[in-house]
Amino acid sequence: MFRVTVFIMSLVLILWTQCPCAQECGALHENTCEGCISSSPDCAWCKDKYFVRGGQQRSVRCNSTARLREMGCAEDDIVDPVSLQTVTDPLPRKGRRRALLTPQNMTVELRPGKPLTFEVQVKRPKKTSVDVYYLTSLSFAGKDSSHSAMQLGAQVISAVQEVCPEAESRGFGIFGDKHNTDSERTTECGEGELGCKKAFSFSHSPSPLDSPEAPTKAPRNGARALQGPSEGGLLALMQTAACGAMIGWVRNARLVVYVSDHGFRAADGDTPHADSTSDSGRCHLREGQDISRSLDYPTVAELAHKLTENNIQIIFAVTEGVAEKYQELSDLLPKSTVAILPSDLSNVTAAIKEAYNRLSSAMVVSHTGVPGLNISYITECADGEQRSSVRGACSDTGDNRRTSLKVTISSKDCLEPQSLHLQLLGSPDRLSVELKSLCSCECGDGPDPEFCSYSGEFRCGVCRCYPGFIGSRCDCDLERESDATCRMKEADQVCSGRGDCMCGQCECNRRENPAEHIYGQYCECDNFSCERALGKLCGGHGRCICGECHCDSGFVGTACDCSTEVDRCMSPNGSLCSNRGNCECNQCKCSGPYSGPLCEVCPTCEGTCGFKYCVECLAFGSGPYKENCQEKCTSIRHPRSTPGETVERLPNENSSLAEVSPQNT
Ligand SMILES: *[C@@H]1O[C@H](CO)[C@@H](O)[C@H](O)[C@H]1NC(C)=O
Ligand SMILES: *[C@@H]1O[C@H](CO)[C@@H](O)[C@H](O)[C@H]1NC(C)=O
Ligand SMILES: *[C@@H]1O[C@H](CO)[C@@H](O)[C@H](O)[C@H]1NC(C)=O
Ligand SMILES: *[C@@H]1O[C@H](CO)[C@@H](O)[C@H](O)[C@H]1NC(C)=O
Ligand SMILES: *[C@@H]1O[C@H](CO)[C@@H](O)[C@H](O)[C@H]1NC(C)=O
Ligand SMILES: *[C@@H]1O[C@H](CO)[C@@H](O)[C@H](O)[C@H]1NC(C)=O
Ligand SMILES: *[C@@H]1O[C@H](CO)[C@@H](O)[C@H](O)[C@H]1NC(C)=O
Repeated sequence: MFRVTVFIMSLVLILWTQCPCAQECGALHENTCEGCISSSPDCAWCKDKYFVRGGQQRSVRCNSTARLREMGCAEDDIVDPVSLQTVTDPLPRKGRRRALLTPQNMTVELRPGKPLTFEVQVKRPKKTSVDVYYLTSLSFAGKDSSHSAMQLGAQVISAVQEVCPEAESRGFGIFGDKHNTDSERTTECGEGELGCKKAFSFSHSPSPLDSPEAPTKAPRNGARALQGPSEGGLLALMQTAACGAMIGWVRNARLVVYVSDHGFRAADGDTPHADSTSDSGRCHLREGQDISRSLDYPTVAELAHKLTENNIQIIFAVTEGVAEKYQELSDLLPKSTVAILPSDLSNVTAAIKEAYNRLSSAMVVSHTGVPGLNISYITECADGEQRSSVRGACSDTGDNRRTSLKVTISSKDCLEPQSLHLQLLGSPDRLSVELKSLCSCECGDGPDPEFCSYSGEFRCGVCRCYPGFIGSRCDCDLERESDATCRMKEADQVCSGRGDCMCGQCECNRRENPAEHIYGQYCECDNFSCERALGKLCGGHGRCICGECHCDSGFVGTACDCSTEVDRCMSPNGSLCSNRGNCECNQCKCSGPYSGPLCEVCPTCEGTCGFKYCVECLAFGSGPYKENCQEKCTSIRHPRSTPGETVERLPNENSSLAEVSPQNT
């Protein structure tokens, strides 16, 4: 019966510890509701005034909901806030454009550790008005004829306009590589050479490419050092995002067409929130000036973040040789695609149109980062497949322009109130989430000064005492205490001289060594002043409880220094101490003339009983062998009588002789 019970209990224990559904509140010693609920998502607080029984700590109020229920806390008294969301969209008004992203406005109260999932309806933006920026590499600008870069730009704009007639050019930019200071000195511009510029890494021109003022010729970079690889494209992209006002973006839907036949360089690292501190994330463009100072390459994560923030989509129109590299980059950026430029540049329009169509049929929702917040998306795309990722994206929403996203947010710690924005890339629409951490308790229990002895504030079932008062009901006035109850006997010291009397109760001193503990109602006990053996408290084989050793099984003695084992007393033939002594503390205490670890040695034994007579005759010249002592006792030599010879072992010589003194025989 007992065994069955144990079996069931261990089964329950195994299930209980392994089952992930069993919540376990790991918080210990949380004395306030706030501390309790923010310590773990699995902790709840019981606000029942009378929940804590005598002798219990206040922290028993903090445990899992299930456990509190078991302990008798009423459902209404369990404080266990759950994350919640409230949509605060205004009612839709007639005549107003329906938003592509709904809801648009919500508030979220997030309990640390408790994720919250909400659904967002998305309508893919139509190919509506878009601002287009043309960004080309210097290498490309100088590749063919000096005209080709500008002509290509004009082709690009008209290709986009074929798909989306309202698209407008917002100027163009040319990038080289990250500038290094040496190149400044090697400027090779001729005196007054038109269109030759001093060394630059990014040059921005605000004239629309489809306007009559647009230059027909790309400016020449006068620094030979920069006519090599043009790998500073990400620097320039970052500037198109960071310098909104300088670039002159008008609409919220923005497209950059990036043309290059070179690769790019990026800084290592994954710092999505570094934009505020990073140099490369700030705008460095000045009116009418190129960027010629040295900037750091951005990281891809920084760039992705900045592009999301500024709602910029990109077409990487690149030559076949570098297309793969840009595809890898594009996969990491929120909304971008790669178009392979035909080598003769004859049919650029088709490539751009195709890429722009692809970009427009994609749906991407991305967010600006909030430090400490974890956001993930589940998207159900046209193919019916559910995708989970760091962005809500469908490469092709098909004919159905509507999609829904499940967004899950969670935080580990309490966060300051702040806003989170989810942007539908390529459209001006976004969802603003006002975020608040649920780290305080709304217990709804009014003031109850009487319960707290008019000396404290009542909140969530417990009293917070004013200074000078303690106790669960603040009923102990520290100034009017009596220490009679802190003495074991009237003549004794208060708390045995090892503690302070606080409101009639001893608070025992703490020892510097954390392994040493003073306790007891009068601090009369401790666990370090027991008997020691071999330098160890209780011989290392017991626990010191209130000054006394409580030995582990197998040990006895006041210092637990005596083993109850007998293995070291066991003779080879199986007898204890060869039956010639007692086994005490696993050591033979030999009797009579015997010696040796197992009492196996008896140097003076001759025959069976001859020894006694030999002793008599050798020592005293008396006894039955008196006449023929030398002859009978050849194997025994009295040390004094035969100094030349030694007896192999005679440790008990003296006592043996004393024992066999004539009086005893
Ligand atoms: C919750 O209650 C169980 C059982 O009484 C106890 O073992 C555990 O320590 C408690 N947890 C906390 C956080 O107090
Ligand atoms: C969103 O809500 C906030 C306050 O809750 C309000 O100030 C703001 O105007 C709202 N925005 C929209 C688009 O409804
Ligand atoms: C350009 O390429 C597309 C397909 O890629 C083709 O349909 C079109 O006829 C081509 N146009 C010219 C002018 O070659
Ligand atoms: C973020 O949330 C996802 C899904 O909820 C989870 O898999 C991931 O481990 C979380 N990351 C962190 C850093 O908490
Ligand atoms: C004494 O008690 C303290 C507190 O319970 C404990 O941490 C420590 O290990 C104990 N020391 C010994 C030697 O048992
Ligand atoms: C083992 O030897 C001792 C002395 O050598 C003897 O007294 C004892 O009887 C022996 N015991 C057994 C079980 O043979
Ligand atoms: C025996 O007794 C003598 C004299 O009292 C002493 O010198 C000697 O050390 C003793 N021997 C032993 C083994 O106790």
